[in-house]
Amino acid sequence: MSLLIDNIGELVTHDPEFGVLLDAALVLDDGRVAWAGPRGLAPAADSSVDAAGGAVIPGFVDSHAHLVFAGDRAAEFAARMAGEPYTGGGIGTTVAATRAASDDELRATVVRLRHEALRQGTTTIEIKSGYGLTVPDEARSLRLAFEVSPETTYLGAHVVPAEYAGRADDYVALVCGAMLDEAAPYARWVDVFCERGAFDADQSRAVLQAGARAGLLPRIHANQLGPGPGVRLAVELGAASADHCTHLSTEDVDALAGSSTVATLLPGAEFSTRSPYPDARRLLDAGVTVALATDCNPGSSYTSSMPLCLALAVREMRMTPAEALWSATAGGARALRRDDVGHLGIGARADVVVLDAPSALHLAYRPGVPLVRHVLHNGVLT
Ligand code: NIG
Ligand code: FE
Repeated sequence: MSLLIDNIGELVTHDPEFGVLLDAALVLDDGRVAWAGPRGLAPAADSSVDAAGGAVIPGFVDSHAHLVFAGDRAAEFAARMAGEPYTGGGIGTTVAATRAASDDELRATVVRLRHEALRQGTTTIEIKSGYGLTVPDEARSLRLAFEVSPETTYLGAHVVPAEYAGRADDYVALVCGAMLDEAAPYARWVDVFCERGAFDADQSRAVLQAGARAGLLPRIHANQLGPGPGVRLAVELGAASADHCTHLSTEDVDALAGSSTVATLLPGAEFSTRSPYPDARRLLDAGVTVALATDCNPGSSYTSSMPLCLALAVREMRMTPAEALWSATAGGARALRRDDVGHLGIGARADVVVLDAPSALHLAYRPGVPLVRHVLHNGVLT
C-alpha cells in the first residue's frame, strides 16, 4: 500500500540527496520512503494525507528512556524546586515500588508512556531496565520493554541495591553473571551508571565487557552529576553513546571528537533537577556527534517530550533549531547505530511527523505547544 503526503510546506529529510524541500510531497510504500520531491510531480498512490502546508520531519528517535517502573516521585521534584539537590538517591524508592508491582501494572505504564511519546512524534524509543536490580526483576523489566520496542537496554548496574550495601563487588559479579544471562535474551544494549555513588570505572568496564561478551552493545551514563571517567571509558570501549555529558573536561571533549561515540544530551534532566545544562555548542564545534533524548524516568526527568528537549537545547545549550532537530532524529539514530531511521531518504523507514506549523523552526519557536498533527509509524497513520 502506498501513501502520498501532499501539500508539505517544508520537508526536512536529513538526506544529502534532498536536504530541505519547500512545497513538497512524500510517498511512502510498504513501510518505506519511496519518493520525495516537488508537489505536483509525485507519482500516484493508493491513499493520501494532506499536510495542509505544514512542515514534515522524520519521526523523533529518543535514544534514552527508562519507562519500566512503578511509583511516583513528584514530592522529590517539589523538594528539589524548593532547593534540595538531586543525588540519584531516590532511585531506591522506585526500585522498591517496581519490585512490588505486578507484571500487568508495569506493562500498563510502559505501554502508556510509549504511546504518550508516539503521540508527540517519537517513532523510535530506547527503553532501559534498571529499577528491578534482582535477576527476575531485571529480566521481567526487559521482557516488558521488548514487547514495545526492539531497542532495549540492560541497566542492572544502575545503582547498588540496598541489600548489597557495602558489597558492591558482589553485586557487580551478579550483574555480570546470572543477571546478565537472564536479561540478555531481551536486550540489545548494556548500560552502566558510571558516577560517584554508583559504579566506578573498573566496575563499569567489567559490566560493559561482560555485556559485550554476551552480545550486547555498550552505552553508558557518564559525567552526569560531576566530572569522572565515564566519557573516556565510553570512548575506550567504543560505546555507541555516552549519555548526559553534563560535566566535561577538555580531555573528555577531545576523546569524544576523535571517536565514533555519540554524546547524548538529556536537557530534561537538567531542567527537572535544576542543574546547569551541558554546552552543546562546545561539543559541536569540536566535531562531536550530538544526540538529544528525553531520559524519561520518574526521578530526574519525567518527560516523554522530544519537542520540549529540542526547545531546551536551543534555548539553553546553544544549538541552532536545525542542529537540535537533527540531533533529536538523525543523532538519536546514530546513538542507536541505526541507519534506517532519523532521516527520510529513499528506503528509510516510513516514520514521519506532520507538524501543525509551516516550518520545523516552530518546534523551538513555539515551546510547549502541541504541534504534532499526524504521526506515521512504519507507514501507518497512528
Ligand atoms: O539517567 N542517572 C541515572 N539514572 C537516571 C535517573 C534515575 C532516577 O532518578 O530514578 C538518569 O537520570
Ligand atoms: Fe538515564
